[in-house]
Amino acid sequence: MTTPPGGESQALRGLGDPSCPSQSYELLAHHYDAIHRSKTYRREADRVLAHLDHQLEGPGDQLLGVACGSGRHIAEFTHRYACLGVDANAGMLRLARDRVPQARFVQADMRELCLAKRFDALTCLFGSIGYLRTWANLAQAVERFADHLREGGAFAIESWIPPERLRKPLRKVRSYEDGDRAIARVGVASPPVDGCSELTLEWLIAEEGEEISRHTEHQRLGVFGVDETLDLLAEHGLEATVDEQGLTEDRVLFVGNRVG
Ligand SMILES: C[S@@+](CC[C@H](N)C(=O)[O-])C[C@H]1O[C@@H](n2cnc3c(N)ncnc32)[C@H](O)[C@@H]1O
Repeated sequence: MTTPPGGESQALRGLGDPSCPSQSYELLAHHYDAIHRSKTYRREADRVLAHLDHQLEGPGDQLLGVACGSGRHIAEFTHRYACLGVDANAGMLRLARDRVPQARFVQADMRELCLAKRFDALTCLFGSIGYLRTWANLAQAVERFADHLREGGAFAIESWIPPERLRKPLRKVRSYEDGDRAIARVGVASPPVDGCSELTLEWLIAEEGEEISRHTEHQRLGVFGVDETLDLLAEHGLEATVDEQGLTEDRVLFVGNRVG
């Protein structure tokens, strides 16, 4: 973690730029699990597994977890599947490897996945496709997803916030504390302009023996419409329906299988 002199604001740019994906995840990976401590990964994973079991045609136990982050869903999926996790960010993958030693992890951009293997199930969760920003990038990634899923293979893809749920700015606060550190993070996501939302995240981090550091993340995320996303998936043989309840507040979960 870089601490700016005097604790003044440090701007982190680049996350969300597919040519430079997840730059600030590298700097903040160490705090990612803490700030998402209350996220109910086990409950979410159970829901995803139920969908995958329902959608999967025939037997199969090979799962590809795209944009797996620190591996918290993968840790739950290993009870049912042999897992390979992929993420663009080395810091997140370090956390994932420590957390789930029985799974394999590979660093890759989801638009360029080329693993020479077809899987029985594929996941891409917690809005990670938002980092692709544009329909062209999303189409490239979806083409890669389809290429890595066998016919009848099941998938679960969770979008970032869709346009109809982002008509006005969305504000969120998260916090975390233990004996050694306290973290507060305030985020504001703007309504989309030209298909993208600007997400600003202000972090205040107080760690043992250090001054309070402040970090500002500027992210640009693609806000993809639900019907258009369903059409794009179908174009690549990924027939999906929407789980209206979803996993995470404000996001949409697409579930289905590969038909051809
Ligand atoms: C919001 S996090 C979600 C992580 C994990 N799925 C979870 O539920 O905790 C988004 C993840 O997407 C990854 N990511 C962003 N752009 C990517 C890309 N083009 N290819 C692969 N991973 C990417 C980031 O590194 C980060 O780990």
